[in-house]
Amino acid sequence: MREQLEKIKASALAAIQNASVTDALEAVRVGVLGKKGELTAVLKQMGKLSAEERPVMGQLANTVRAELEKKLEARKAELEAAALEAKLEAEALDVTIPGKEVEMGHQHPMNKVLQEVKEIFIGMGYTIVDGPEVEEAAYNFTRLNIEEGHPSRDRSDTFYFDDDDKVLLRTQTSPMQIRVMEHQQPPIRILAPGRVFRKDEADATHSPMFHQIEGLVVDEGITMGDLKGALETLIKRLYGEDAVCRFRPHHFPFTEPSCEVDMQCFKCRGKGEIDGQVCSTCHGEGWIELLGAGMVHPKVLEGCGIDSKKYSGFAFGIGLERMAMGRLKLNDLRLIFDNDVRFLSQF
Ligand code: PHE
Repeated sequence: MREQLEKIKASALAAIQNASVTDALEAVRVGVLGKKGELTAVLKQMGKLSAEERPVMGQLANTVRAELEKKLEARKAELEAAALEAKLEAEALDVTIPGKEVEMGHQHPMNKVLQEVKEIFIGMGYTIVDGPEVEEAAYNFTRLNIEEGHPSRDRSDTFYFDDDDKVLLRTQTSPMQIRVMEHQQPPIRILAPGRVFRKDEADATHSPMFHQIEGLVVDEGITMGDLKGALETLIKRLYGEDAVCRFRPHHFPFTEPSCEVDMQCFKCRGKGEIDGQVCSTCHGEGWIELLGAGMVHPKVLEGCGIDSKKYSGFAFGIGLERMAMGRLKLNDLRLIFDNDVRFLSQF
């Protein structure tokens, strides 16, 4: 019986050592120590032993059982630790791998310039107003003293919705002058930025959609000097104290007198050429046209029910893209509309 016990012990120990999963260990335990196990079967034969042998074998059997139980426990812990280790390894995160960078957006550079312009005028007491892009010809033209047959009303320049030429995409922000004055008596001091549309082919300085900023001031005793002061303030705040601009006589049907305002070309500094080459930014002019302006025509005031004997006013219409080109030193207007992140991310 001693040999039997030793044999059971030896083979069980080998099986325990060879078990590579906990299920296999369990099989060994049942096979040896279980109710129908090998060791149990041996113990059942104890009755056949002599009275002297019985306690000795009993003791030996208990030692074997205890040892096997200990080994089973130890091996189980070992296998579980190995399994945990393997799992951790498989699920390991390399925290040193650089993460995916999330691109942050920001305001479009043109909106930043618009914001600057708004703040300058808000500082001078102006209110920001908004109006329709789909406009009536009456507001866009007629009530601005632009008569039937005027070239700017031509279908080759203006996007009309119907054959009767009554509704259109506004070609300028000036209809906002009418929309404000027909509802409000002076004093008036407003700024109306927005999109305008003209049938222009896109090139370095033209686009079929662009932005204007309309300004209108109406009160008692307003003069051309007030207009000049407001616009010079804008240009110096935006481009710096040493910025140079010029006021040039012009004609608009809705202002009298009228002018256009140019800024000195930021590229060639007014020379029109750089190293003997014609400056590509101002086309050799030395100046870049920024805006149209003038004193509100008495006919326009009267048409809105404002007494032109008592009140006078000035209006201006700034080309925002032109203004932004100067502010951001761009040589091509299309950069503003392309939405290329390589361009946008520079601002
Ligand atoms: N609306 C004119 C244009 O688009 C600009 C302008 C505005 C001129 C206000 C005078 C007064 O050219």
